[in-house]
Amino acid sequence: MSSPTAWLVTGATGQLGTDLQTLLAGRDVTALGRRDLDLTDEAQVRGVVGAWRDDALARGARPVVLNAAAYTAVDAAEDDEATAELVNGAAPGWLAQELAGRGRLVHVSTDYVFDGDATRPYRTDDEPGPRTAYGRTKLAGERAVASVDDDAVVVRTAWVYAAHGRNFVRTMLRLESERDQVSVVTDQTGSPTWSADLARGLVEVAQSPARGLLHATGTGSTTWHGLARTVFAGAGADPARVLPVPTSAYPTPAPRPAYSVLDTAGWTAAGLTPLPAWEHSLRDCLTALGALRA
Ligand SMILES: NC(=O)c1ccc[n+]([C@@H]2O[C@H](COP(=O)([O-])OP(=O)(O)OC[C@H]3O[C@@H](n4cnc5c(N)ncnc54)[C@H](OP(=O)(O)O)[C@@H]3O)[C@@H](O)[C@H]2O)c1
Repeated sequence: MSSPTAWLVTGATGQLGTDLQTLLAGRDVTALGRRDLDLTDEAQVRGVVGAWRDDALARGARPVVLNAAAYTAVDAAEDDEATAELVNGAAPGWLAQELAGRGRLVHVSTDYVFDGDATRPYRTDDEPGPRTAYGRTKLAGERAVASVDDDAVVVRTAWVYAAHGRNFVRTMLRLESERDQVSVVTDQTGSPTWSADLARGLVEVAQSPARGLLHATGTGSTTWHGLARTVFAGAGADPARVLPVPTSAYPTPAPRPAYSVLDTAGWTAAGLTPLPAWEHSLRDCLTALGALRA
């Protein structure tokens, strides 16, 4: 019989961390937010994770860390790359080192490691080319994990939203109730990913033999404009109230990738369950929010 798993979720108050906690409720899970585990503090990371790991091993459990913590403020990272580098770049390596040979790390990365210029979905073996501080630091984190010879897997995802927290879907629902019209960019393409689906995928991959780099997003793709229209339609509002605008209408400190679609062939080849079609999961999320009207 295989050993039971002891789970540790970092970034427990974030979108993904919250959904991981919900999914793992009732199991042997330790969920730590920034207050209990600050990923800028190497001594704290090694001390807290090391003690948790030793306790899990002493109980005969297999330690598995799901790293849902990240410096995700893409624009703020441009002026604060040193902090982003600690959280996104260095800390994943510390976690991998604490688990090497003694447990498993599932680390989450991003489409921002790519340049966004592609015209077909990015494969795991495509050359990264980050254009932002966030992307550079997340790529450093991937490399820090990969440099430790251990039982780790890095899962890149994109366009994450949840029924809680700050995200595009909830913003669109709010704007739908506040404004007659909203303008949304139509020249950025990606795959909306419901955090609850991603959480299920991460727990599945954690329990699989998969190692290395994988891509996992909602199935299919759209533009932010297309996503906003679908949110409006699902909420029973007229999607024509969402006006298309180019990215150039919304200058941001960090440039947004024009194309973010990730090729998930490796995920399915590893025998993992594909994440559902994005439209399907969006409806499930709207249902969870009590916002589905059509
Ligand atoms: N959101 C997206 O569209 C997206 C797209 C691609 C990839 N990803 C990746 O998916 C993962 C989950 O993202 P998410 O959407 O759940 O992000 P999120 O909602 O912003 O959650 C990130 C969590 O990390 C925590 N955190 C920040 N700095 C920390 C520190 N120094 N120590 C410990 N925790 C810290 C945050 O805590 P506070 O709440 O206290 O700040 C927050 O709870 C991340 O690896 C992210 O890079 C996200």
